[in-house]
Amino acid sequence: MIYNALGNSGLIVSKFSLGTWLNFDSMNSSGSESTLFKNAFNEGINFFDTADSYGDAEIVLGKALKKFPRKDVVVSTKVFFGSDFPNRSGLGKKHLIHSVEESLKRLNMEMLDLLYLHRFDNNTPLEETLLTINQLISQGKILYWGVSRWSKIQLEQAIEICDRFQYPKPIAYQDVYNLFNYTSGGEEFVGYLKKNGIGLVGYSPLARGVLTNKYKNTIPINSRAANDDYAKFMYDLTEEKIKSVQLLEPLSKKYKCTVAQLVTSYLYSKNIESLVFGFSYVSQFQEIIKSKDITLESESINEIKNIFKNYNYDKSL
Ligand SMILES: NC(=O)c1ccc[n+]([C@@H]2O[C@H](COP(=O)([O-])OP(=O)(O)OC[C@H]3O[C@@H](n4cnc5c(N)ncnc54)[C@H](OP(=O)(O)O)[C@@H]3O)[C@@H](O)[C@H]2O)c1
Repeated sequence: MIYNALGNSGLIVSKFSLGTWLNFDSMNSSGSESTLFKNAFNEGINFFDTADSYGDAEIVLGKALKKFPRKDVVVSTKVFFGSDFPNRSGLGKKHLIHSVEESLKRLNMEMLDLLYLHRFDNNTPLEETLLTINQLISQGKILYWGVSRWSKIQLEQAIEICDRFQYPKPIAYQDVYNLFNYTSGGEEFVGYLKKNGIGLVGYSPLARGVLTNKYKNTIPINSRAANDDYAKFMYDLTEEKIKSVQLLEPLSKKYKCTVAQLVTSYLYSKNIESLVFGFSYVSQFQEIIKSKDITLESESINEIKNIFKNYNYDKSL
């Protein structure tokens, strides 16, 4: 497993990480999470992602991680989304403080390694948000902070405020990162992140399952797309995209691997700090983890790039 320092920090994270959205959002999940997290930890994965808005995921994750030394796991959660009640969403001081307290309780932990500001809040002065983050860090409730899906301008404003008040700066940027949706602003934006000591953490590397090629003939039962509550998030599940994924079959045969492994090995070779996967079954994890041992020739990399060259990042996602 490759490990990277997350941005300009001393926090070391595995290049593969595990997310808990939709797969572990219910306390009634199959219980497979315990085996899955054990497998992942044994494979060297130390980075686990959740959010205050992922149903019961923080509770499920906290329980599963109790089996490992706290010092050996890196836990990120997020704050922003909530309900319509006043002070129950956004990045105002009151919501931030309550959200972090509640996340810590659900995770059954003393502190968070990384807190993402899940989206930008147009209704709260950024100074107030960053003052609160600085206080949470001073109190030892969070070690580091990052953002998810902010624009470059919003990030620049945050960095300027941190410079002005000498607050700790963000160390991580979380965004969608797969063959259909490459981070907003492309290579130039990634360069900007690097220059400012911000690590890139890419989520949905398999486009929520579409890039595994499993939707080529039908929608399998027990798949995410077969569940109405989850299917609404499957914006990449289009006929055109399913056909593009099928074009990877000859290459996967060449490397004697599955399409899911091919796609993952492509992303694994990219200059990114960590890729956050979701797994509904242990077998899916076992398939994907083998991808780190596949090395693609540059000709194959170009072939993959070519198949997906017309897809662009969708800012509205
Ligand atoms: N910051 C944000 O706004 C944001 C947004 C989205 C996600 N995230 C984070 O990123 C994490 C991962 O996102 P994601 O779940 O969309 O990632 P993903 O890895 O692209 O998709 C995960 C889904 O793909 C299917 N899958 C995985 N491996 C497979 C395999 N080997 N064969 C067949 N199907 C396979 C499974 O769905 P089935 O149920 O169909 O089996 C699995 O639940 C989330 O848990 C969350 O922590 C963050």
